[in-house]
Amino acid sequence: METKHAVALVGLGKISDAHLQGWREAKEVQVKIVVDTDGARAGAKAREYGVPEFGTDFQAVLERQDIDIVDLAIPHFLHAPYSIAALKAGKHVLVEKPVATKLSDAEEMIKTAESTGKKLMVAEPIRFSPSHRRAARMIEQGEVGDPFLFNTRAQFYVPPQRFQGTNTGWRSEAGKIGGGVLLESGIHNIATATFLMGDVESVVAFKGKQTRSEITVEDTISVLFRFESGATGHGSFSWAARWSDYTDDFTVFGTEGVLGNRPRTGRIFLDKGKGEVREWVETQVAAGKSEEIKHFLDCIDNDKTPVTSAAEETKNLKVVLAAYLSATENRPVKIEELKAN
Ligand SMILES: NC(=O)c1ccc[n+]([C@@H]2O[C@H](COP(=O)([O-])OP(=O)(O)OC[C@H]3O[C@@H](n4cnc5c(N)ncnc54)[C@H](O)[C@@H]3O)[C@@H](O)[C@H]2O)c1
Repeated sequence: METKHAVALVGLGKISDAHLQGWREAKEVQVKIVVDTDGARAGAKAREYGVPEFGTDFQAVLERQDIDIVDLAIPHFLHAPYSIAALKAGKHVLVEKPVATKLSDAEEMIKTAESTGKKLMVAEPIRFSPSHRRAARMIEQGEVGDPFLFNTRAQFYVPPQRFQGTNTGWRSEAGKIGGGVLLESGIHNIATATFLMGDVESVVAFKGKQTRSEITVEDTISVLFRFESGATGHGSFSWAARWSDYTDDFTVFGTEGVLGNRPRTGRIFLDKGKGEVREWVETQVAAGKSEEIKHFLDCIDNDKTPVTSAAEETKNLKVVLAAYLSATENRPVKIEELKAN
């Protein structure tokens, strides 16, 4: 097949199907090889998606001249070293969220992308979600007036198997996962917060009562935000919420109205306090990676900066790290206090 770009997808866990489907929908691109430390998993995935090659050796991928894009859907602690190695090997890199687990790693990733001139994009779906984009557009157009308060939640039950086994057991090691519900799941809500409300100036956080003994990082945390605009907000995050639903929502309160999403449905509502609630139905975030991948390719082909560049997503990582520092030291933490560690 004549293609413009050749991709190696590394890490073939839960999110890898969305990546493979996204690449399949892209034009002039071929996923040439899928790689996982679990060779049997790699073989099965290659057969399922008609990928010509599979393997277990990441280093070997870096040496190949016929591959120009590396897509990393791997455990958190590997995001930085694998991204940096791939950039230095001359590849463009798409890496799953969170950008990294430490600020110093994220900063090195940013620097390496700059020095190599290769594109580095974080796969943060919020910025590509039709419902979130609609919300951002409506706020921009002044539909809610001046936004002064933001609330968000990510509350659900992660099954114990996600923290066990050869492929997913990395989540049970604090040094590998890097953080708990806020870093892995809440980072999407933080990305939503910064997308809709602008940069965060400071946070106050309390880690919750730990009720899940199989999880070594925080399973529950509450965070108060102060945005640079002067607006405030609150986020409530838990992997221990024993209800049937998956709740992932946000609400923006403005001087002219209230706007938010309905959990699970992708619906966006606008209530101006006059007895009428308007709603729009949009595709949900979970709809896949095709928009992200399309944008990544556009950035490579036309030398643009990804909207979810490492620098942009490092802002969201800083909010998470500031919340952890606040919870540990029991005090408000300004984002500008954070130094590379
Ligand atoms: N964007 C989203 O909505 C979303 C959803 C789920 C996960 N994620 C992110 O995607 C990444 C992967 O998550 P997941 O849920 O797919 O993980 P997972 O735990 O289901 O699978 C991880 C896979 O990586 C493989 N692996 C481990 N070390 C490896 C190495 N050195 N080289 C190659 N493969 C290796 C494992 O064998 C396993 O197959 C994480 O960063 C996670 O936060 C994003």
